[in-house]
Amino acid sequence: MKLLITTTLITLVFLNGCQQIQQDDTAKHADMVSQKRGSVLIEKGIVELSDEQDHDKNVAGIDPETELYVVDNPDSIEVYVNKQRRLPEGYEPDDLVEPDVEHLSQQGVNRRLLRQEAAEALELLFEQADEQGIDLVAVSGYRSYERQKTIYQSNVANKGQEEADRFSAQPGTSEHQTGLAMDVSAASVSFLLDQAFDQTDEGSWLVEHAHQFGFVIRYPEGKTDITGYEFEPWHLRYLGEELATHLYEEDLTLEEYFGYHY
Ligand code: DAL
Ligand code: ZN
Repeated sequence: MKLLITTTLITLVFLNGCQQIQQDDTAKHADMVSQKRGSVLIEKGIVELSDEQDHDKNVAGIDPETELYVVDNPDSIEVYVNKQRRLPEGYEPDDLVEPDVEHLSQQGVNRRLLRQEAAEALELLFEQADEQGIDLVAVSGYRSYERQKTIYQSNVANKGQEEADRFSAQPGTSEHQTGLAMDVSAASVSFLLDQAFDQTDEGSWLVEHAHQFGFVIRYPEGKTDITGYEFEPWHLRYLGEELATHLYEEDLTLEEYFGYHY
């Protein structure tokens, strides 16, 4: 349901069970959201949370338009977005670069880009893979909010929303917008982003080695109920070597690691 927030600044205070509510459309909205999520403050179009636990979750507030949590650490390497958690409006990483790796697209296009640290890690990963006879090809990295919106809307138009939501992120919620995700493929599957990639030498190599370079396969097989997405053996997410190795060793998704799904 779309929620209408008036421009009036309204503050709702919930102290020791004592409620002070200004009743108008905004207050009704706030009431509903607070029942659902314990929000305490509404301010100009973003529902802020003051509960300590929510701050621990790196959440700045709730986007009243989408009802999604808005993360407060979009520039963190460990930023955690999914179907419940979106990036702040207008977010663009400010350190995007083109990693020097084999890529399906010509130079200069956005989809070649990654944030600096992730780009350097991807170069090392590709170098090591190459030395072991593994021919990876990068396919799709950074996507702006607008680009993701176009992709998502096209998927919805072609397959319907329910199906599209199984493999395509709504704009604002894609890891590709963080500049920390790169889809990769191989010639043996015609450079497609297809689950058959998992059966290739390249796909198997990534399963075993991606974490050593700080990447995880973000949407693993058998975890769709947890991540919200079908198995994507091609979607590499940079998290840094320590966290990626921890997730690999413990067989955890980010959802399981952070321990909250809302
Ligand atoms: N395919 C992933 C979920 C995305 O669209 O970001
Ligand atoms: Zn992807």
